Amino acid sequence: MISSDKAVPRIRSLASLRSQRWLTPDDMRSFAHRQRFQQMGLRREEFIGRPVIAIINTWSDLSPCHAHLRDRAEAVKRGVLLAGGFPVELPALSLGEVMVKPTTMLYRNLLAMEVEELLRSHPVDGAVLLGGCDKTTPGLLMGAISMDLPVIYCPAGPMLNDRHQGQLVGAGTHTKKFWDEYVAGNIKQADWIELESKMTRSPGTCNTMGTASTMTSIAEAMGFTLPGATSIPAMDANHVRMASACGARAVEMIWEDLKPSAFFNIDALANGVAAYMALGGSTNAAVHLLAIAGRAGLPLTLAKMDEVAQRVPVIANLFPVGANLMEDFYYAGGMPALLSEISPHLTLDALTVNGKSLGKNIAGAVTTDREVIRSVDRPVTAGVALAVLHGNICPAGAVIKPSAASAKFFKHRGPALVFDSNAEMLAQIHSPDLVVDENTVLILRNGGPQGAPGMPEWGNLPIPKKLLQLGVRDMVRISDARMSGTHYGSCVVHVAPESAVGGPLALIRSGDMISLDIDARSLHAEVSDEELAMRRAALQAPRRIFERGYTRLYVEHVTQAHQGCDFDFLEGTAATPEPPIY
Ligand code: FES
Repeated sequence: MISSDKAVPRIRSLASLRSQRWLTPDDMRSFAHRQRFQQMGLRREEFIGRPVIAIINTWSDLSPCHAHLRDRAEAVKRGVLLAGGFPVELPALSLGEVMVKPTTMLYRNLLAMEVEELLRSHPVDGAVLLGGCDKTTPGLLMGAISMDLPVIYCPAGPMLNDRHQGQLVGAGTHTKKFWDEYVAGNIKQADWIELESKMTRSPGTCNTMGTASTMTSIAEAMGFTLPGATSIPAMDANHVRMASACGARAVEMIWEDLKPSAFFNIDALANGVAAYMALGGSTNAAVHLLAIAGRAGLPLTLAKMDEVAQRVPVIANLFPVGANLMEDFYYAGGMPALLSEISPHLTLDALTVNGKSLGKNIAGAVTTDREVIRSVDRPVTAGVALAVLHGNICPAGAVIKPSAASAKFFKHRGPALVFDSNAEMLAQIHSPDLVVDENTVLILRNGGPQGAPGMPEWGNLPIPKKLLQLGVRDMVRISDARMSGTHYGSCVVHVAPESAVGGPLALIRSGDMISLDIDARSLHAEVSDEELAMRRAALQAPRRIFERGYTRLYVEHVTQAHQGCDFDFLEGTAATPEPPIY
């Protein structure tokens, strides 16, 4: 990863470090800073005269994917100390994906704000970011990019593979598969209960190519991690060594003044988008990448991502698109091997956190299992990773993941069955009286950023029980919500603008004919403009019920899905000055 004995070119002096402005002046406030470090038993020489490295840790007892991050923080500290720095651990919002209601997406921006303000308000020179479960990667990166101190991302790493009755089973993907069989009556309750102990075999992030692995891998492609870091299994001794190396490298980055603004540019972003498509990654990445780019002031659109998806095929043969898990991906060569396979689509001289170019980092990378990491001329699927749709339902765009959808629905026409809320859908979807067949297009509205609020992963609407019992396992579904990256299905998500702000999805009625044509990138309701105008005139604005607190802030400032769902006041790169010293 890195050599601990190489000479680091110092372009920063000790006196120029922000931590020293807290710790060294001969004034009463600085006296108090030093006094309080000594209150914890530290000697002066332990914290004065060396870079102070924050370890932003998203560990908590309710974040099982991060259960090992307390231990990893200790490894990071070892690395920091070894390189001559002083480590300080700062806890941050943990956002355990499956524990948080209504959705972690509601709190991604809160984590980003917390990271930015933790870094701004404390005597630190740079940071190691510890995270990995879905929203933690974008939240950590967004905050760090806005603050623009030297940072390195230490990904939590994927959990170990698991098997059930001899079959490889993966987090999220097989939960969904087995749930459908349970609802259909093909799995007994005792077996269902037994399955609770399967698929999530160890600490670490989901072992499928869900949102977590998509985002950590993209972070690596964009230069925020040490080479190969993201695919190391969380429980592998290599992961501990990687964490220590992150700590050591963070100290070097301070002296080199290697901040995100020095390497996270349009080329690095483009490398991340290309990797996203080759991974067959989660649709959630489309939203997160827009937000991350927005923090750095880099231009990115859904149209650009669609264009890249048409050039870069899916070559990672991982669930839910393919047939393997992240541990297999690691053994096959991990991200360096995948990036090497798509190197013609990358800007290889893009700088990364280890001070080397992406090209140097992946030079010599070898794919050791061609079934897990394919070549670009033998993709996993003919379907691309992302298609961006437009039409009178989604004038600002909507997305679908063709590689995880049924080819028979790439072009489809069927009557709408509309649900006004997730609660309404759940109350009705399995009713034997539901008027539905496999050609019906299920529509869920009020699941968007403001409407839900927080844009939960409601977009993979359940297949009605009466159809599951007939063997149906996929239908066309449309919503302004999101969909889990571990899931699969012909789900159009992120419809923008969302219904709660008057997007045309609010005007669709059950029985309207819906036509989807992925090749043509179109999604239409076969309803005349005149009729839609009449429906709009009769539309009643949804009642706002969030009168206070963070949710009110969120609803008032969140942007739409095609804009990244960041807060409008956090976009851009305007630097906020360092807090004054009183
Ligand atoms: Fe944490 Fe999937 S639930 S990564």
